[in-house]
Amino acid sequence: MIDESMGALPARGLAAERVLGEVRELRGLDRPTHGGRLFAYVYDPGVAGLDELAAAAYAESAHVNGLDPTAFPSLLAMENALVGAAARVLGGGPGTSAPEVVGSVTSGGTESLILAVKAARDGRPEIDRPRIVVPASAHAAFAKAAHYLRVEIDSVPIDPETLRPAVADVAAAIGPETVLVVCSAPSYAHGVIDPVAQIAEVAAAAGVRCHVDACFGGWTLPYLRRLGEPVPAFDFAVPGVTSISVDLHKYAYAPKGVSVLLHRDPALRAPQYFAYADWPGYTMINPVISSTRSGGPIAAAYATLRHLGDDGYLELTRRTRDAVRVLADAVRGVDGLRLITEPESTVVCFTSTDSGPDLFVLVDELAARGWHTQPQLTYAGLPRSVHLTVTAAVAPRAAEFAADLAEAVAAAGVAGPVTLPPELLALAGALSPEALTAELVASLAAGLGLGTVGGPDSGAGGGLPERMAPVNTLLDAAPPALRERLLVEFVSLLQRPSY
Ligand SMILES: Cc1ncc(COP(=O)(O)O)c(C=O)c1O
Repeated sequence: MIDESMGALPARGLAAERVLGEVRELRGLDRPTHGGRLFAYVYDPGVAGLDELAAAAYAESAHVNGLDPTAFPSLLAMENALVGAAARVLGGGPGTSAPEVVGSVTSGGTESLILAVKAARDGRPEIDRPRIVVPASAHAAFAKAAHYLRVEIDSVPIDPETLRPAVADVAAAIGPETVLVVCSAPSYAHGVIDPVAQIAEVAAAAGVRCHVDACFGGWTLPYLRRLGEPVPAFDFAVPGVTSISVDLHKYAYAPKGVSVLLHRDPALRAPQYFAYADWPGYTMINPVISSTRSGGPIAAAYATLRHLGDDGYLELTRRTRDAVRVLADAVRGVDGLRLITEPESTVVCFTSTDSGPDLFVLVDELAARGWHTQPQLTYAGLPRSVHLTVTAAVAPRAAEFAADLAEAVAAAGVAGPVTLPPELLALAGALSPEALTAELVASLAAGLGLGTVGGPDSGAGGGLPERMAPVNTLLDAAPPALRERLLVEFVSLLQRPSY
């Protein structure tokens, strides 16, 4: 049993076995990372022995420091191998039209995107107020990059039917201060592939870099194409594409902490680097944001790629594609639901029809049946929706989904939609983020069942309501700026030290 009073720093150190037992007990609070029933956050190939291999490789290199490649050539060798593999998967390397592709291994998609924006910004030092052109469907990490790097965003709306930006709108948004144009292959929310070739063409015509965010699906699209799916050109085979990001901790099935940022040539990558020698300590050269970096994730990714191999990824993508088809059929087969779009990658995204269930209630009903899906809020003319990231491990379970989905829809119908007090909804719709006081947040949180983790009346990991529909309904009623503020407040209520 976990003795909470002792906290993370007990007066006397505890036996290894006991401590590991505590970690395992805490892990029992989590959603299931394996087994194909969690449709977000995790990527499970369902390959026996892979976890053990990756964990052993991770442990081997956990204490190696990527800060200095001359001290730890093992890490440099593995990084270069990962970059080479990613380049090859994405249309670059020897014998291609992009033979000079180079890259870096980062900690994840967000870091890759921040660095793509940094390289673009610092590649144009003559521009005082740099701007980037970003379709509304692009990942939120571009907004984070813009925020961190003081770059302005020119947002391009997406068509509510195709869920893609119009190329003419992208072209019109490019101005003299634009340093980067962004597109997704595919987008996270809906899994659709932007018209990369056309967007890259207008960017190139304006002399502007074009980044393809393939963080999510960059490792599956080439295999889907080999399986005969109609995947449009999106990689370095497209002339105007200057950089691509792909996350190995997503569909390459490596443990968390690995993404690759590729540039078409070394000159494009150069402004990504940060070097500093004007201090009395060691001379510092950081290709990525972190300075000290564990070798663990890199070694684990290396082992994963080497073990699964090209044939392994082809087979895992085939299983994933088949699972997508089964899940999409399940959605089609239930009255009251409709696919937001026909799946073109590894996402199934659906919404409800006018006579359909409250989707947030449905998400809770599915969770009660062991299926963990991801609700997406109403946004800019798009209805609320449910997102399923489908991985290979879903395949053996996919056939079970249809019956549970139908049952969950029926249960959501019986439960009826979430009804929050009208004055609360009116407040969410009208309140300005600045007007949100600590007292108001506390009473909102209490009303929604959000307690304080580690507080006197919460168990370990407590503080979260069993049913999230009321929280999602409140957020859904608020405009994005207030959603952001509420999220910050709610999460800061959860992030409290436990002693
Ligand atoms: C398209 C896309 N880009 C970027 C990211 C950010 O990746 P990470 O969560 O690894 O920082 C994601 C994550 O889902 C994504 O789907």
